[in-house]
Amino acid sequence: MPQYVIAIDQGTTSSRAIVFDHDGNIVSTGQKEHEQIFPKAGWVEHNATEIWDNTREVIGQALSKANLTRHDIAAVGITNQRETAVVWDKNTGEPVYNAIVWQDTRTQDIVDQLAADGGVDRFKSTVGLPLATYFSGTKIKWILDNVEGARERAEAGDLIFGNTDSWVTWNLTGGPDGGVHITDVTNASRTMFMDLETLSWDQSILDAFGVPASMLPTIKSSSEVYGTVHTSQLLREVPVAGILGDQQAATFGQAAFNSGEAKNTYGTGCFLIFNTGEEIVRSKNGLLTTVGYKLGDAPTHYALEGSIAVAGSLIQWLRDNLNMIGSAPEVETLAASVEDNGGVYIVPAFSGLFAPYWRSDARGAIVGLTRFVNKGHIARAALEATAFQTREVLDAVNADSGVPLTELKVDGGMVANEALMQFQADILGVPVIRPKVTETTALGAAYAAGLAVGFWNGLGELSSNWAEDKRWEPQLDVAERDRQLRLWKKAVTKSMDWVDEDVK
Ligand SMILES: Nc1ncnc2c1ncn2[C@@H]1O[C@H](COP(=O)(O)OP(=O)(O)OP(=O)(O)O)[C@@H](O)[C@H]1O
Ligand SMILES: [Mg+2]
Repeated sequence: MPQYVIAIDQGTTSSRAIVFDHDGNIVSTGQKEHEQIFPKAGWVEHNATEIWDNTREVIGQALSKANLTRHDIAAVGITNQRETAVVWDKNTGEPVYNAIVWQDTRTQDIVDQLAADGGVDRFKSTVGLPLATYFSGTKIKWILDNVEGARERAEAGDLIFGNTDSWVTWNLTGGPDGGVHITDVTNASRTMFMDLETLSWDQSILDAFGVPASMLPTIKSSSEVYGTVHTSQLLREVPVAGILGDQQAATFGQAAFNSGEAKNTYGTGCFLIFNTGEEIVRSKNGLLTTVGYKLGDAPTHYALEGSIAVAGSLIQWLRDNLNMIGSAPEVETLAASVEDNGGVYIVPAFSGLFAPYWRSDARGAIVGLTRFVNKGHIARAALEATAFQTREVLDAVNADSGVPLTELKVDGGMVANEALMQFQADILGVPVIRPKVTETTALGAAYAAGLAVGFWNGLGELSSNWAEDKRWEPQLDVAERDRQLRLWKKAVTKSMDWVDEDVK
């Protein structure tokens, strides 16, 4: 009997393959970054072919580090950066354009045109999302409208679309040689095209966008055998049996299976997901309604989501664009060189503001600068921005649910930063809890795949794998917390209303 499950985590900055054992422990990891392509202000692209090459390479790394072969692997799970749109030719496997990444804002004009009739909430009652550049739908339309010949080839049935879960799955299962073109309900819920109740594509919305239904993957549950890996590959004949978008996967990996449970993941962006069980809850406070997971034929679990576009990527920006630090962890030393933020607040509205504001006219702002301020204060303000944004999202979750969260489970790369976690607890006023395995995104995908093939027998078994590593209790004086929050909110107002006709 195979002793392991492998998860492929196709993320925004890198692709990883992680082998897990039955207790949910990491056995080995392969990881490779891919190029972030910024052709113009506001445009963000990835090379989908590079992503697929890296995926194969990291699978090889993970297997060889632990001296494993395909015979040791019970199933493959896939998790992915959501919303990032790939359009490719199903006959050749060639993408017709770079993948347009979720952070990309080039489609604002398409959003405005679609919103002219009915406003940004035009499709919200069906899909749970406002019209925004963030979701896959306008990105597909942009490719069809702007890549020469694309619309004709799509209408002829030659071009197909997927988020990177579909792209990786199609390639793993054979590509032009019989690859399966599917996605799971969680990824489908990020396109703007899926009806949350029926879990099927909505033809009237597709018509409004001008996207042919033939391009879209078949919607499947998050946990079932979709196909097997093609015989040309290392994992040949291993079942591909689970897919969850990265944030939903992290929720699953945190064992937040039930209504009222939540987690917050601190990666490139920061995403708080609140499980609402089998109920579809419509947010009144700027959250998205999304699918949490669906296991085979079992009922669908829904969630509310607070999406923050920029969190860890602000630290990468300090590293790559300002050269203030040599590596992300160095931000900790720099931030510790000062007592406090020195009055500086950074609102990282690089792609506008996501939850709870949804303001596409916002752009990044650094406010409170004086002659006193040094780079330590900037580093500190960059870290604090993530904690303040999380507080605003948590307030929205509490307002929508009516039952305030009493603690927050966290994961993702930034939770290695203990000073940030303490500040997060201080600003939230509730304890922050880090589990032993912080690679919850990959773990959730492994769980979904392992459940489908009987490697794990049920959610109870997965819950008992979860273990606490560390917890931070709020320590900050409440008056001081409220003062800082007031300043943060004032800073947010300074980032708004920046984009206009001649400023994009
Ligand atoms: N010590 C640290 N302090 C603050 N931020 C950090 C620290 N270490 C890493 N980061 C940030 O964490 C992020 C990496 O987290 P993680 O590995 O979860 O992201 P990711 O999974 O690669 O993101 P994605 O899935 O979007 O590709 C980076 O943006 C990095 O800047
Ligand atoms: Mg990730």
